Amino acid sequence: MFPQGYHAPRARFSSTGATGALMQRFYQTEWQHIPLASCAKLSCFTLPDAAFYAAFYEAFFRKYPSFADMPASWRAQKKTWAEKVLSCLPAAGAPRVLSVGCGLGYLESLMLAQRADIQFHCAEIADAPLRWLRPLLPEGRCHVGYAPDCLPPDLAFDLIYCGSIDYAMPDDVWRRLLQALRARLTQGGGILILSASLWPDPPMSVRSYARRCRQLWRVLRHLLGLQAVQFWGWMRTVGENTALCRKAGLSTLTYGPIGSDPHGLWIMAYP
Ligand SMILES: C[S@@+](CC[C@H](N)C(=O)[O-])C[C@H]1O[C@@H](n2cnc3c(N)ncnc32)[C@H](O)[C@@H]1O
Repeated sequence: MFPQGYHAPRARFSSTGATGALMQRFYQTEWQHIPLASCAKLSCFTLPDAAFYAAFYEAFFRKYPSFADMPASWRAQKKTWAEKVLSCLPAAGAPRVLSVGCGLGYLESLMLAQRADIQFHCAEIADAPLRWLRPLLPEGRCHVGYAPDCLPPDLAFDLIYCGSIDYAMPDDVWRRLLQALRARLTQGGGILILSASLWPDPPMSVRSYARRCRQLWRVLRHLLGLQAVQFWGWMRTVGENTALCRKAGLSTLTYGPIGSDPHGLWIMAYP
């Protein structure tokens, strides 16, 4: 179901019932204008590990002294995302909100500037990216490790959002995470997924096959030693992602595009 008044472009929002069958891998050579090969030996088969991220963030903080120095296009995209999260919150009442995979915490910094009453909790695998976010939150609100294991056991949340983390997990891990997060919602609470890894083409279309061929070509070039790429994660169609939500026990779903990013998708899900 689309939100009222929203008409989905067919190609971007075509869905498939074959959950997981069409998971599409993608690859990166840089992030935030930092060549990944300058941080670690790249692999086109395994996801980046903790050592990769430690080296990456060292380079990152050398290049960017503050959020304001980061690329304007990235900041504009995240502003749209922050607005989307805010629109899903009750207007008052100091809602308790969990950000899973907060990364640098730019979204949270934008929202706090508008609504100081939000009780943010943030989960992040690595401590390194939290350098700018920690000073903005009260002690004990950054939980380092894999969610849900790193979360305090007795807390429930009015809203949980996952900003661009779906891509980093295979189907079964993503489904299990959603299922565990569902158990952490207050009565009436929901989960907002903000994805930047929407597979935009109809699954069996020429464009879909062409896209897969391009990815395969990148792997071949890597293996031939022509250009190293890093395996970054998986893209999913709307149908694949929403089917995983349903399998995780989230049955009330709305979704739509976010910003002008052809790979951008939001899904609001309730048990
Ligand atoms: C691409 S970043 C997104 C950061 C931020 N949410 C944003 O939208 O700008 C994804 C982050 O999610 C984190 N992450 C992925 N899975 C996680 C999990 N299960 N628990 C905590 N953090 C996770 C990664 O360490 C990474 O920093």
